[in-house]
Amino acid sequence: MDESILITGGAGYIGSHTCVELLNAGFSVTVFDNYCNSKPEALNRVESITGKSLTRVQGDVRDRVALEAALRSSGASAVIHFAGLKAVGESGEQPLRYYDNNVVGTLRLLEAMQTCGVKTLVFSSSATVYGAPQFLPYSEDHPFAPTNPYGRTKLMVEDILRDAFASDDSWRFSILRYFNPVGAHASGLIGEDPQGVPNNLMPLWLQVAVGRRECLNVFGDDYDTPDGTGVRDYIHVTDLAEGHVRALQWMAQSDGGLCRAFNLGAGVGYSVLEMVRAFEAASGKPIPYRIQPRRAGDLAGFHANADSARSVLGWQVTRDLQTMCADTWRWQSNNPSGYVG
Ligand code: NAD
Ligand code: UD1
Repeated sequence: MDESILITGGAGYIGSHTCVELLNAGFSVTVFDNYCNSKPEALNRVESITGKSLTRVQGDVRDRVALEAALRSSGASAVIHFAGLKAVGESGEQPLRYYDNNVVGTLRLLEAMQTCGVKTLVFSSSATVYGAPQFLPYSEDHPFAPTNPYGRTKLMVEDILRDAFASDDSWRFSILRYFNPVGAHASGLIGEDPQGVPNNLMPLWLQVAVGRRECLNVFGDDYDTPDGTGVRDYIHVTDLAEGHVRALQWMAQSDGGLCRAFNLGAGVGYSVLEMVRAFEAASGKPIPYRIQPRRAGDLAGFHANADSARSVLGWQVTRDLQTMCADTWRWQSNNPSGYVG
């Protein structure tokens, strides 16, 4: 396949894994990233894994002129839009920065795409748009009720895409709602490299396993879940990356425009304590933990109904929890300081 794709935020965690799958599938790749939460080294590693080269453009998605130049020089026929800020807590402290980066950035991107006649987009949304479950598993028609500014930026962008499509049905939009991405490429060369203090379970586990943190805080053991701890639908980042390739292929096959959302999750939930046992098995290290009060804003449990992705995109997860933990541990063991050092 000789098709060129522009990837905003392609140096980040999910973006770098998606670059690998795209290059392996025969696409040409141009990454457009300002490296505000990533390192260019991730892209060198992508090239090492695949034995193929990609094009790098350093730029900000709020810069429409730079985006137009990148779209033209790359000859891209489609865009995958990962660029965004993603820390829920920070979004409450700096909401204007989040709306500017995530919402205004997407508007500039859509304008640039329209100017350049590129009408196919995959957008990174999140299960966080659903909010408190009215039923489980969440299907794509579950009502929306995001509970924080980050989640609202995702829902706003989704609404913008639906409105753009309603006014011009030549757009092709795939909105991918990720559940909880974890894991790393099986090579151990790329993985999540969180900047600052991590908030998510997996990076915190790693800090405990390597002795940088005394123990894991388990936020709440009194939820209405089998063992009382929070349940999430964890998805291996390579399975997630493959979903983007499927979405592009699905849109390329269509004669007309499209605008459709897909849940990308495994469809099964694991509790925090089940995760602790899986971490211990993967790392061979005991993971001391202590039960703490519930974390503000947390939901008890949720998982995906991913039937649409299976029936329409022909996508499903193939990597289990053991693989998610083993791959994460390999990445951490090979790169104790992430991409630095
Ligand atoms: P990440 O922070 O690792 O990657 C985001 C990339 O975008 C980084 O390389 C960053 O430098 C870049 N970026 C941010 N703002 C930019 C801007 N204005 N211009 C150019 N580049 C910019 O995050 P990730 O985990 O890879 O997430 C990718 C996308 O998926 C994000 O939109 C995120 O909101 C969404 N998402 C992530 C998760 C998750 O748990 N990781 C869950 C649901 C949705
Ligand atoms: C969080 C975000 C969500 C985002 C997702 C992936 C919130 C409210 N939601 O989801 O928008 O898409 O990250 O980036 O922040 N846990 C512990 N101890 C810890 C850390 C987590 O017990 O030290 C528990 C949590 O209570 C939860 C589970 O582990 O039950 C997973 O937590 P986390 O990895 O932070 O993801 P989410 O809260 O699902």
